[in-house]
Formats: sequence, C-alpha cells, structure tokens
Amino acid sequence: MSLHGLATRALRALDPEDAHGWAIRGLKLGLGPAGGRDDPILATELAGLTLANPVGLAPGFDKDAEVFAPMLRAGFGFVECGTVTPLPQAGNPRPRLFRLSQDRAVINRMGFNNQGLEAFAGRLAKPAPGVVGANIGANKDSEDRIGDYVTGLRRLWGLASYFTINVSSPNTPGLRALQTKAALEELLGRLAEAAAALPAQGRVPMFLKVAPDLEAGEVEAIVQACIAQGLSGVMVSNTTVSRPPLRSRFREEAGGLSGAPLAALSTRVLRDFAAAAAGRLALVGVGGIATGADAYARIRAGACAVQLYSALVFEGPGLVTHIKRDLAQRLRADGFGSVTAAVGVS
Ligand code: FNR
Repeated sequence: MSLHGLATRALRALDPEDAHGWAIRGLKLGLGPAGGRDDPILATELAGLTLANPVGLAPGFDKDAEVFAPMLRAGFGFVECGTVTPLPQAGNPRPRLFRLSQDRAVINRMGFNNQGLEAFAGRLAKPAPGVVGANIGANKDSEDRIGDYVTGLRRLWGLASYFTINVSSPNTPGLRALQTKAALEELLGRLAEAAAALPAQGRVPMFLKVAPDLEAGEVEAIVQACIAQGLSGVMVSNTTVSRPPLRSRFREEAGGLSGAPLAALSTRVLRDFAAAAAGRLALVGVGGIATGADAYARIRAGACAVQLYSALVFEGPGLVTHIKRDLAQRLRADGFGSVTAAVGVS
C-alpha cells in the first residue's frame, strides 16, 4: 500500500472532523500526492474556463482556501473553496460530521464553520496553479442574507476563477428558501447589479449551487431565473435531507447526506436541469461520484465537469488519478475525442 493509502487508513481511525483537520495540516506541509500530467483527452472547458481535466474538488473540503494549491497538484482539474461567509462563524456544535462507512456516505451538519471573508481573500490573493472557485454564502445570524452574498462577491472580485452562489446548504436554517422563485430572482438580480458596478476585468463565470431535493417545477423556475440574470451555470447538487435506505449506525443523524447514496438522486436532478436548460447553462455534476464510471455517467447526463468530496474520505486524494485514468479509457472506448463530445449524449 502507498504512503498516502496508509495515511488515509490511519485518518479513518480518527474522529472524522479531527481526521479532516490532520489532512489539511498534512497538505499544508506538502505531504499531498503529486498527480502528474493529464491525458490530453481530458482537457476541457467549463463556461469559458480552461480545465486540464473535468474532475473538481467540491466545496466543504477547503472551506478557508488553505489547500487549493496542493489539491490542484494532487490532480484535480479545479478546486472550489468555501463556503465562505462575510464574518467568521463557529458553525454547529460537535459532533457534526459522521462517516457512514457501510454506506460509503457522510452526514454533515457543519453549519458554515469558516474563518470569514478577510482570511479567505488574503489566501486567494496568492497565485494559484490552476482554476480556483469561491463558493459564497450568508452568515447564520445575518439580518440581510442577500447582502451577505453581495459582500462576498465584492470582496472576492478579481481573486477567484469563478463564483458559486450557495443557496442549498441544509445546515443554515431558511437558506434553501432562497431557491424559491421570488427570492432567487431578488438574490440574482442584486448580484447582477453589484457585478455590473465592479471592474469589467474581474468578471468571471458565476454558478448557482442547488439542492437535490427539488420538484420538477422548481427546476424550471431556477433555470429561468439563472438565464434571465446571466448566470453561467448550475452545480447539481448539494447534500440531500432525504434518507434513502442506509445501514450505518449514524443514519439517523440530522444534516445533509452525501456520498454513494446520493448518486442516483443527484443524477436524476442533473438530468432535469439538462432538459430544462437545453444547452443554455453549463452544468456541473456533484454527488456520490467515486469512480471513472460515475464521472462518465454524469458527463453523459449533461455535466461539463464533475466534483467530489465524500469519496475522498474513504479513498484519499490518490482517488482522482484513478478516476481520470478510467474516464479517459471510457471516452476512448466509446470513440469520443474529448470530454465535450460526450456531454449530454445520453
Ligand atoms: C459539504 N458540501 C458543501 N457544499 C457547499 O456548497 N458548501 C459547503 O460549505 C459544503 N460543506 C460540506 C461539508 C462536508 C463535510 C461535506 C461532506 C459536504 C457539499 C459538497 O460540496 C457536495 O455538494 C456534496 O457532498 C455531494 O458530493 P459528494 O460528497 O457526494 O461527492
């Protein structure tokens, strides 16, 4: 077993939040794996961003923008940091992160614990060896939640490769109500207005991150609002508050479920977005991706790129290399010359 395999196994013996803290410390010390050069067939494009490969790190792993450089070096095609809120926030009391090993799943109710916008912006200002997105949110006790997103956009303008507006965490009470039509139109309208007043050279793609727990009618309304306000795309999806059948002892814990049991739901909602958007938005598939086959299926269902987090908890950062190798093989086996050629074929 490799050194990173051993380290991943050792970390799995710890409390999951402690393990995450050690993983971040190790990455900061330069102990992460080196991914090597990407197969040229994986080079692709996401809403105008050039990616060496379409496999991204989902937000939540690097909440404070501390390890985007080592995670890019480990082989991710892009890294999304955050969610960051204007003010530092402690989040919910521990324990708030649970490994459901038998289900290859995670439940979290972290509640946007983060060091706040200033610390985040300071780190993002350093040059990055690749595409780094900023996922922005609102403080739990904020009196003007929409204002918090505007504050995040303004402070990070010119520092991030793209923005993601996170309205889908189940762990900040009331946040997901921003996905409803009127609230979303107001949020996106105010962000568009703020963006128009900022220097044009800082303009980058903007995505909305949605929950998987949506009705078909809601999908249509979200797509219309995103197109009307000039968003580049949608990240599908965040964790689910639903509970498909699970076996692990932590299955009753409150919070958002991610990992393998989310894959089918997340793929279904991605298909709904692909049908409603009909090529007018760039989609990113997130939720339960752990193999090259999972990534390939999400691309065929309409995703330009994918992201993952929970599978890393079980497999470690070397996983991205396996996923990419398998994805490249699958593309070639089906006669595709590029990732783009396979987007939305099924
Ligand atoms: C998350 N996720 C998340 N998403 C987000 O937009 N902002 C965040 O701060 C977090 N935080 C977070 C913490 C933890 C511990 C987990 C497990 C997840 C959601 C994550 O980005 C992703 O959308 C889901 O986890 C589904 O993907 P995976 O984990 O099944 O690959």
